Amino acid sequence: MNQQRSPHSNWSPDSWRRFPALQQPVYGDPVELESVLKRLRRLPPLVTSWEIEDLKAGLVAVSKGHAFLLQAGDCSESLEDCETRAIVRNLKVLIQFSFVLIHGSMKRVIRLGRMAGQYAKPRTDDTETRDGVTLPVYRGDNVNRSGFTESDRRPDPNLLMRGYERAAMTLNFVRSLVGGGFADLHHPEYWELDFPTDSQRARDYREMVQSITRSMQFMEAVQGANFRDSHGVTVYTSHEGLHLGYEESQTRSVPRREGYYNLGTHLPWIGMRTSQIDGAHVEYFRGIRNPVGVKVGPGLRPEELIALVSRLNPENEPGRLTLIHRFGSAGIREGLLPLIEVVQRNRLNVVWSCDPMHGNTFVASNGIKTRRFDDVFAELVGAFDVHAGMGSILGGVHLELTGDNVTECVGGSSQVGEVDLTRAYKSAVDPRLNYDQAMELAFLIAERMQNNREK
Ligand code: PEP
Ligand code: CO
Repeated sequence: MNQQRSPHSNWSPDSWRRFPALQQPVYGDPVELESVLKRLRRLPPLVTSWEIEDLKAGLVAVSKGHAFLLQAGDCSESLEDCETRAIVRNLKVLIQFSFVLIHGSMKRVIRLGRMAGQYAKPRTDDTETRDGVTLPVYRGDNVNRSGFTESDRRPDPNLLMRGYERAAMTLNFVRSLVGGGFADLHHPEYWELDFPTDSQRARDYREMVQSITRSMQFMEAVQGANFRDSHGVTVYTSHEGLHLGYEESQTRSVPRREGYYNLGTHLPWIGMRTSQIDGAHVEYFRGIRNPVGVKVGPGLRPEELIALVSRLNPENEPGRLTLIHRFGSAGIREGLLPLIEVVQRNRLNVVWSCDPMHGNTFVASNGIKTRRFDDVFAELVGAFDVHAGMGSILGGVHLELTGDNVTECVGGSSQVGEVDLTRAYKSAVDPRLNYDQAMELAFLIAERMQNNREK
């Protein structure tokens, strides 16, 4: 191929270093950082290129409306929470959520966890002040620690290694669980709901489980084959590709394949704060072969979106780029329309996904960061409406949730109020939907998809 015409010309895993990189920690000892990164470059990959290509193929189906993308998990994972119970609960809510969506939409659902590497967080301010003491801000568990002491907040390169190891342990357990029958449809007891058993949602859910089981028995009887032999549950991983030194260390060439893959995750995404067209993140992301995501939201002009999409997906390859829009419930209808319009006019192949979390954050009267369940759902409804109205496809949702019964978002039928926020607020960064709120949202989305089908 003519070098000049290659979309990846002048790109290498470290070419981002020639561009301004926002949101990067400043380490006290660059030699120590380099020695950790050197070790990380030699460690085995966490995922493989064929899994990544499978996900990309799934995203092609999403872009055509044949499948739906469910991307969900913690806002920021913590090294502490890399433990059996938390992983099982988060996997369980992801899988249950997906089954509810499948039932409503009658489409394949691509499960993409915000997990096994979601350890780096972009922050608005570089410092945080408490009672007159100012320290560097917490930037995620692979950078520093959330406690409020000078040593907690000092960026420590060894945490990158801890993050890689925890990601590997998480993924190893997730792979074993999904491969070993955890999600086996023949064992509905493994995905039984923890709702109060007499609630309407619990009844709906049990009915749905029975209906799925019956359909499978029917198919098996017709085909004379065991469903389990041919259909496994797949879970892919994703995280914000924020710490570019770390991402570079996971970027590898693969025998008999062209180009470079980030083998630290299936789908990395670019956050809102680092999506500058001339910035280091866009430079890094344009050259890897993974499917990638980019957050888009208020203030992004249509011509800027076109420039961003062309840079990240120069060959207009289907499945390559997911635009994750996050406008907030008040801004979704007006904000989204011009972006869809310009993408359609330029015939750009993208997957559209709605993040109804990050545009809906507010500070409650007691000073705690939260989100309202109703705002989250309202943004989703707005997104479905705007896409449908323009003949576009809303291909997925991007959610912050947990399998635990935390009290971080307010509302939902379990009626978490602002006074409850202090009771079980565990997230170190953004508020997540708890288990009940997540499943309630799953049903609401499924209902909406079912209505669309029946129209
Ligand atoms: C996030 O997804 O946790 C996040 C920081 O989102 P955004 O980049 O959209 O603000
Ligand atoms: Co977040």
